[in-house]
Amino acid sequence: MDKLRILSVFGTRPEAIKMCPLVKELASRPGVESLCCVTAQHRQMLDSVLDVFDVKPDWDLDIMTPRQTLSTITSKCLTGMDEALEALKPDMVLVHGDTSTTFAGALSAFYHQIPVGHVEAGLRTYDKYSPFPEEMNRLLVSGIAELYFCPTEGNRENLMREGHRENLFITGNTVIDALRTTVREDYRFSTEELNRLPYGEKKVILVTCHRRENYGEPMKNIMLALRQIAEQRPDVELVYPVHLSPVVREAVDKYLRGAPRVHLIDPLPADEMHNLMARCYLVLTDSGGLQEEAPALGKPVLVMRRETERPEAVAAGTVKLAGVVQDDIVTMAERLICDKAAYDRMAHAVNPYGDGQACRRIADAIEWRYGLRKERPEDYRA
Ligand code: UD1
Ligand code: UDP
Repeated sequence: MDKLRILSVFGTRPEAIKMCPLVKELASRPGVESLCCVTAQHRQMLDSVLDVFDVKPDWDLDIMTPRQTLSTITSKCLTGMDEALEALKPDMVLVHGDTSTTFAGALSAFYHQIPVGHVEAGLRTYDKYSPFPEEMNRLLVSGIAELYFCPTEGNRENLMREGHRENLFITGNTVIDALRTTVREDYRFSTEELNRLPYGEKKVILVTCHRRENYGEPMKNIMLALRQIAEQRPDVELVYPVHLSPVVREAVDKYLRGAPRVHLIDPLPADEMHNLMARCYLVLTDSGGLQEEAPALGKPVLVMRRETERPEAVAAGTVKLAGVVQDDIVTMAERLICDKAAYDRMAHAVNPYGDGQACRRIADAIEWRYGLRKERPEDYRA
């Protein structure tokens, strides 16, 4: 019998971190041929992840250009995917999350009448413009997909409220699977500066920031808040691997560079990043993925956004919304730096996002759906 051909399509750093473990899990199934097409919406940041997980794409659209617009990403992906789908002839396409690659990958599969499985399905803020354009991307992909792999029960409930009733699986988030392969107690950083950070003596704060809806005034406020924290607290060191987006780099250069105790470094390979997170004191971020990883590692997170589509860790008490106003970010960070009781209340490991078995459940669900397995996989329960 011919093998089931599953094509995973992704293009940005977070999609790659969350999809590489699944590509490998599928490759381990005897009845499945696991194929991989990258759009390279991110070029360097994607390649770094492919290296860490040792995944070699079968097809590479190589679409990235500096300062790309949403329309160019989407149209280049759509055009490129035509050729990839015709050549690779998958039985099913998997997309992940909410990027422009995700939306274009799903739409292209639909145009070719190939069923789509959506990994990390059902996250919502119910604000069309925040996160932008991700909230709309994931809504549109929900309309196209046939299989939904929801990280949490809440994600499934969102989809059910929207009328999706069939083929909803609660799997946990594959990012927890990824973390389990990267974090080690005896890890030695290849970025020498990270080995030398005073983890025990000072409070090492890990920072990231990149969201489009934060471009402009919010990003300026965030940078000024970081500067203020660094200037007024000799007991902290801020480590900030700066995203390669020129818009982000300009804001960093204008408002943050030169502040004392701030280490501005290039994006880190995923294993370095995960191990840095495991050793830091606190995380300040507008990233989605960090809101899932840091709680699993017992690190408090202040989210520099107005909303979050990941309420589970907020409910568990390890993540707080700090917003995008300079004073609010500074006040909330100061509290966690100075008030040990407040810090301890947030610093406990919780795993609402998975148990490291998400890829196995997703692969089982696909095999079940295509008649290669008798049992439907059990849903993940936090
Ligand atoms: C994209 C996703 C966002 C995700 C984020 C993860 C969309 C619309 N946005 O946003 O959902 O949270 O990735 O980081 O899909 N660049 C490089 N090299 C790289 C990567 C980026 O030079 O390896 C620069 C390029 O100039 C590029 C720019 O960054 O044009 C922006 O990249 P883009 O993918 O358009 O947007 P992100 O903000 O990264
Ligand atoms: N990450 C990384 N190197 C860095 C910064 C982030 O490997 O320098 C990882 C991080 O651990 C997480 C993912 O990238 O797994 C998050 O990606 P990003 O913040 O770019 O996107 P988002 O999750 O917000 O979509």
